[in-house]
Amino acid sequence: MTDFGAVAGADQLHVSTHPLVREKLTRLRDETTPPKIFRELVAEIATLLLYEATADLPTDEREVRTPLAAYKGARLKDKVGLIPVLRAGIGMVEAALELMPEAQVWHIGLFRDERTLRPISYYNKLPSSATVQVCLVLDPMLATGGSATETVDILKKWVAERIKFLGLIAAPEGVERMRKEFADVPLYLAALDSHLNEIGYIVPGLGDAGDRQFAT
Ligand code: PRP
Ligand code: URA
Repeated sequence: MTDFGAVAGADQLHVSTHPLVREKLTRLRDETTPPKIFRELVAEIATLLLYEATADLPTDEREVRTPLAAYKGARLKDKVGLIPVLRAGIGMVEAALELMPEAQVWHIGLFRDERTLRPISYYNKLPSSATVQVCLVLDPMLATGGSATETVDILKKWVAERIKFLGLIAAPEGVERMRKEFADVPLYLAALDSHLNEIGYIVPGLGDAGDRQFAT
């Protein structure tokens, strides 16, 4: 992960430098990559990011017997919630469930208004108070930051104790907005790109993450 010492809230910004992430992300960006391979790459990169993002989760002791002896091992102490932001976050959630089969999944439905670029909420079935201690927000793209800040705002009102954001590609504008509004939420990213274009797309980016996954 790259050290962004000069950036505000830099200790909360983790951008992967792993060769496997960089290689997979390059194939993901390629405009000739078909939806099936695109979905596989989203899941594979999500797995690699999750490995980093969960490295500090607390554990309890768990005792088991091997065929030879008793062994004091570990189990996750906290309940984990996966928060995929629809639609594009769907591609990351199966990968997360492979690693944490007991995690709860709470979908949040948002889409960006194409004109204002503001997020419009259309799905939220969260119960009235938090049922997990750790929330992992899953959304491949952090562009203006509108969708991510809206999601974190919902989770804060839910009184979630710890929130982390996992994304594949971010624009500096989105990172800056998250840093300003939610400096306590760490960002785990596969890449931090150059800028947003005039219609709010990340450049160089990969285009529309939802459309490319679902062939729309
Ligand atoms: C994409 C992406 C994020 C959002 C990022 O979703 O998955 O949720 O845009 O942009 P922002 O940082 O400017 O809010 P989109 O609105 O295209 O919806 P979709 O996943 O349903 O296609
Ligand atoms: N949403 C996407 O899917 N791609 C972008 O570049 C920006 C927002």
